[in-house]
Amino acid sequence: GKRTTVPSIRARKVNGRTEQPIVMLTAYTMRTAQLLDAHCDMLLVGDSLGQVIYGLPSTIPVTLEMMCAHGAAVVRGSWHALVGVDMPFGSYEASPEEAFANACRIMKETGCAAVKLEGGRAMAPTVRFLSERGIPVIGHVGLTPQAVNTLGGYGARGRSEEEASKILADAVVVAEAGAFCLVVEGVVDEIATRITGEVGVPTIGIGASADCDGQVLVTEDMLGLFERTPRFVKRYDDLAQRIGNAAAAYAGEVRSRAFPTADQIYKARS
Ligand code: KIV
Ligand code: NA
Repeated sequence: GKRTTVPSIRARKVNGRTEQPIVMLTAYTMRTAQLLDAHCDMLLVGDSLGQVIYGLPSTIPVTLEMMCAHGAAVVRGSWHALVGVDMPFGSYEASPEEAFANACRIMKETGCAAVKLEGGRAMAPTVRFLSERGIPVIGHVGLTPQAVNTLGGYGARGRSEEEASKILADAVVVAEAGAFCLVVEGVVDEIATRITGEVGVPTIGIGASADCDGQVLVTEDMLGLFERTPRFVKRYDDLAQRIGNAAAAYAGEVRSRAFPTADQIYKARS
């Protein structure tokens, strides 16, 4: 099989409609990528790895080195899904040229097909600069976690008409600048629906709307593996419980010397 391409994702939306919703999940490691790959159109190496696997307080401290290391692992663990990698805070905002250099590094070191960057109007020239030079860009509007210090938290956006119009304008401008799809995060249902109706490219919602052209969740959230469970997360499993149970069983058997048994140990040939 051939890996899912950027044009094939873009082409899912025809005349403003998407027949087959786009399925996206995050992945940070080779093994997770292997397990998710067949089920997903796109795998996102999100900078949410800062909180989810590094225990950082936000995505702000995430580095290009982290994104490259995890991006490469996810590309190695997948063969079908299109892999997109988040550009971390500080790697793309200053200028289109710097964004291009850092996006190049991500693509060369990971083998991913696309990068994602957060922002609206202010990032449109950068989105255009990259997309016109062989770097497919996934836009990200609404609640943009790298702007947590400006926004003052992670609450849903677009509740006031003023904020809603700004987010809608951001989405339109980023799509027009050449983003091939758009993550719409943490915005009220009505605004996500309006964005989806007004932009030509697929919208991928998270805490957004069932009307989006696709959906994304953080895999650890969806698996019940991370403490934080915002409203928009649906838990499809409770792996935290299952991992805890397995660890408790192992610990009990080590302490009671029930593990290992003859099945798990080597004997010299006699
Ligand atoms: O970092 C991330 O995981 C993301 C998705 C939630 C869209 O940006
Ligand atoms: Na992100």
